[in-house]
Amino acid sequence: QHPGWPAHLGPVRVAAGQVTLRPIRLRDAAAWSRIRLRDREHLEPWEPTGRGSWEARNHASNWPSLWSSLKAEARRGAMIPLVIEVDGQFCGQMTVGNIVRGALRSAWIGYWVAKDVGGQGVATAALALGLDHCFGEVGLHRVEATVRPENLASQAVLRNVGFREEGLLKRYLDVDGGWRDHLLVGITVEEVSGTVVDRLIRTGRAAPA
Ligand code: ACO
Repeated sequence: QHPGWPAHLGPVRVAAGQVTLRPIRLRDAAAWSRIRLRDREHLEPWEPTGRGSWEARNHASNWPSLWSSLKAEARRGAMIPLVIEVDGQFCGQMTVGNIVRGALRSAWIGYWVAKDVGGQGVATAALALGLDHCFGEVGLHRVEATVRPENLASQAVLRNVGFREEGLLKRYLDVDGGWRDHLLVGITVEEVSGTVVDRLIRTGRAAPA
């Protein structure tokens, strides 16, 4: 096991309910697949291009292999694959990836949230919990994220938890069927005074549980 894995984070209260994060489970297959099949239009423009149809890739029978590869990465200390829950219900994922230690001590963070709980602070709270974990138990110095310039909702979430824009990566990722430009954003531990969650609470974006 590596520092910060497995992780149970939260709760933090937002308009949608109590937000908590916990490790992915094998029995998440049905909830994962149901939301991803239903919310295809909401998710597909922002996700890596995959082989095969959306339906095939997001069928419940695909979850066990995805779950086991993410768990293997977590066990070797390279990833933290978490489920976002609202009031105990599966409603998205947050993943910390490419955890590099040594003199870099950095990682990327990514997330998605079900459309029916959108716009109620869930991603903002989940990202704040994730960042505090990265800078706390995991012991990282920097966290980065990449986001398409067209993805204004995700940019708002990143800005609201304190990410700074660092540049534009041209034709960076194979997303939604093509090489898409991405904005690179980053935050280092020196930029957080107290915790990110505390700042959300102070600014009225979240409440203690
Ligand atoms: N234009 C501008 N801002 C918008 C828009 C829009 N069209 N839609 C929403 N917003 C703003 C909201 O006003 C809010 O900001 P505010 O608090 O300053 O008002 C913010 O976006 C949304 O905040 P939350 O409610 O915390 O976010 P939510 O739980 O709705 O999740 C997310 C946002 C994750 C982007 C969700 O819509 C989603 O899963 N989308 C599809 C997948 C995706 O884009 N994932 C992120 C990829 S990039 C990455 O992982 C780094």
